Amino acid sequence: MTQNLIDSDSCARIMAYHQASKHHLNRYAPGPGGLDWANQPDPFRRYTGTPRIELPLRADTLTTPFEAVRQGERPTAYPLEGKILAILFELSLGLSAWKQHHGSRWALRCNPSSGNLHPTEGYLICPALPGVAAGVYHYLSHDHVLEQRAAPDAAAWGNELRGGVVLALTGIHWREAWKYGLRAYRYCQHDCGHAIAAIAYAAAALGWWARILTGWGDDELAALLGLDQAADFADAEPESPEVALWVGPEPSPTDLSPSTLARDLSFAGRANRLSPSQVDWTGIEDVDRAAHRPPAISSPTLQPPVYPPLIESGYLTSAATLIRQRRSAVAFDGITTLTADRWFTMLDALLPRAATPPLDGWPWSPRVHPLLFAHRIDGIAPGLYLLTRTAEALPALRQALHGNWDWSPVEQAPAHLPLYQLTQGDARDAARVIACHQDIAADSCFAISFLTEFSKPLENAPWTYRELFWETGLLGQILYLEAEAAGIRATGIGCFFDDALHQLLGLDGLAWQALYHFTVGGPVGDPRIQTLPPYIHLRRA
Ligand SMILES: Cc1cc2nc3c(=O)[nH]c(=O)nc-3n(C[C@H](O)[C@H](O)[C@H](O)COP(=O)(O)O)c2cc1C
Repeated sequence: MTQNLIDSDSCARIMAYHQASKHHLNRYAPGPGGLDWANQPDPFRRYTGTPRIELPLRADTLTTPFEAVRQGERPTAYPLEGKILAILFELSLGLSAWKQHHGSRWALRCNPSSGNLHPTEGYLICPALPGVAAGVYHYLSHDHVLEQRAAPDAAAWGNELRGGVVLALTGIHWREAWKYGLRAYRYCQHDCGHAIAAIAYAAAALGWWARILTGWGDDELAALLGLDQAADFADAEPESPEVALWVGPEPSPTDLSPSTLARDLSFAGRANRLSPSQVDWTGIEDVDRAAHRPPAISSPTLQPPVYPPLIESGYLTSAATLIRQRRSAVAFDGITTLTADRWFTMLDALLPRAATPPLDGWPWSPRVHPLLFAHRIDGIAPGLYLLTRTAEALPALRQALHGNWDWSPVEQAPAHLPLYQLTQGDARDAARVIACHQDIAADSCFAISFLTEFSKPLENAPWTYRELFWETGLLGQILYLEAEAAGIRATGIGCFFDDALHQLLGLDGLAWQALYHFTVGGPVGDPRIQTLPPYIHLRRA
């Protein structure tokens, strides 16, 4: 009874946040009203006073083709040791390049991030391995080092962590709130989803698996990572626990408990301060409390439908090259077209399959279904289309979308691809306006609005709010890599007018919401911006 009351109050608070953080055609969600450059957050968290392990830069040695990774054809598993974990980090949360323009320089990473602000931090919890002592480590991507926050007793963890490690992600909301204000919490969740997928791809390229540890509650994870050590964060912006993943060549143990791992740990180091001062966004603190995840009583058992193997892409690039060359397009040319077959190949990669990363590590039934604004697909009439990622979504969406929609299956599409035409017509203006007037949504080959089951999954499980955004981020990361492999580019779109999209579709209420937008097209480069190698500042082999 008490639990139900707490859940319904939490749900109401999440709904209130969600509504308040919507952008509207005539008014944006509350923001800082300008960029306070003197307070720009440091994009790198560091723990001063911790022992550091310098990781080698070895991603170049990994030859697994991206085609094998996307098909879930893993190479023979690489051994679980420090120099291989180094590759895992390099290809997931590591730097991918430096950009330089007019005396300013900024780093890009393998995982994308709204505004390149990177709220997501990565942690490693590992037993004693060749090259790494047992411990809880923070990964500092700038230096490609592990900062050791805690070490268990010498004999500890050998039994609990067998055949894998735990990678945990946290979010520093302030990094995004500095620029985006109230809506920032959503972006932190998108970014977390992208990072989960980035880890899953890197793991698969090593012949490993990455699985979300669904039973881990936020408080237990925070304690294991030392996020609750008030003295270590005395001057620093706090981190919120997000998610823990089991990563390695072996399946995760069924009884792995963060509380057992955290027993008797003492922490070293102090977190750095990211900005001289911080603006409190109480709406973000409140939604984070409302979306707090308790330890789960039972884990979901997902049986993904059986689809034919992923359509072959003919991509020849190695996964390591592709992952590090991934970039967001800042503009599209408005000319490039995509063949229908290539479009279907990309959309096919969004269907849940039991063995293809990153969705093979996603434990929940799909709740996100892409609405497509097709602008430039050869042989496909411009218009609106829907990809339904579960059989149940089709009748549910047919009922939810009020309007005179066609719902005709796309004839040219492979038989297993549940792709429906809603209407024909030029959707460029609609896509542009709804994406906060951003031209890339119209100049792309296609744009997406990720329609998400909303109010129902939150009932009795308010923390699902975060998972819904993660799922959209996961799908976004798939498209980033698929687009890159197809020789074009993608860009995530966090800025969109939520209810304008809902009105366009005739969606009432909160049963469905668009939680993320996305674009894929022919990129236009900016020759003024110089690109430098990612770890040029380290000179490490
Ligand atoms: C969740 C999310 C939302 C984003 N929203 C926008 C957007 O609205 N407009 C835009 O031009 N780029 C957007 N981007 C792209 C980011 O600006 C880009 O990822 C960041 O600058 C880092 O560059 P990279 O992706 O090339 O590494 C978004 C990216 C993410 C992950």
